[in-house]
Amino acid sequence: MIARHNGEALDDGTGYHAVASANANIALIKYWGKADEALIIPRMSSLSLTLADLETTTSVSFDRSGRRTGHDRLYIDDSEREGKALQRVSALLDVVRDMAGMDADAVVSSHNTMPYEAGLASSSSAFAALAAAASHAAGLQLDERELSRLARRGSGSACRSVYGGMALWHAGHDDASSYAEHIDCPLDLAIVVILVSGEQKKIPSREAMRRSVQTSALYDAWVRSGADDLEQALEAVKLGDVARLGAIVQSNSLGMHATMMTARPPVMYWLPGSVAALQAVDEVRQGGLNAWATMDAGPNVKVLTTQREAARVEHDLRAALPGFEVHSHVAGPGVRLRTTQGHA
Ligand code: DP6
Repeated sequence: MIARHNGEALDDGTGYHAVASANANIALIKYWGKADEALIIPRMSSLSLTLADLETTTSVSFDRSGRRTGHDRLYIDDSEREGKALQRVSALLDVVRDMAGMDADAVVSSHNTMPYEAGLASSSSAFAALAAAASHAAGLQLDERELSRLARRGSGSACRSVYGGMALWHAGHDDASSYAEHIDCPLDLAIVVILVSGEQKKIPSREAMRRSVQTSALYDAWVRSGADDLEQALEAVKLGDVARLGAIVQSNSLGMHATMMTARPPVMYWLPGSVAALQAVDEVRQGGLNAWATMDAGPNVKVLTTQREAARVEHDLRAALPGFEVHSHVAGPGVRLRTTQGHA
């Protein structure tokens, strides 16, 4: 089958080399906790919006000589990376090599075209672009669902970045049943990002997630309320009710952070600036605009609003939070293939 994006064939991908781009997504209803760590099967389904501008472009070349040294090479924004980053990339390449029945080293080069120093360096765009480029370079022709499952093996949230706009990741119970799909959304949503800090986090999200599952007394309650949140969020989307959606989104994110704060030892990503930003969002909303806050595994605050209101929300937040960078993003595209070179 041929991977499709917006109904168009991406490519028939029979080559050793391919380049693909994907955009980061922000979860409206969060994924936080795994049922299966190896396959990345989540404990709950999640809902996201893929954003314009926050883009990763990745090229993958498999060595044509067929000799295998067992060492892939990874370059991120032109600097070579080893250690954990390379291990995670090689683990996904191993899945691709298995699927394609091939045994070749790969060189991976990834560029993040973020319009500002975001501190949003998201694994969602990175692993969606890697899954698309690597599978095409290996000659696999995956449909969107298969590509979503493959991206999930690299980083859970990446399975949603296969799609433009809104995506729903069905938790499922095994590799075949855990994938994302596109959801039609009658709302023209936008996300305003408030940059509280661009610094790298001290506790990786994978570790924070594990600790929340294993040690927070609130974790099971959060999973239960998450199922209800998702149902209500999908209902609000269907009705085109942004205020109802926003209230659920905000509460779902706070619930996720409650499981982190009650983990042992606790995980606290919030900085004083995060609290200031959350208060500013409340004030903007009390001023009559749609503005609902959500936070991920870091101190930055993302604000759900509509495209129509985004410029005003951005303006009001800048005024309330001098010294913070504030940027709006509309919905962005799904994964797309750039080039493929065929077998020699
Ligand atoms: C808070 O997808 O980065 O952003 O599967 O371990 O790679 P791994 O985790 P990752 O976690 C994302 C967590 C989140 C919420 C979300 O995107 O749903």
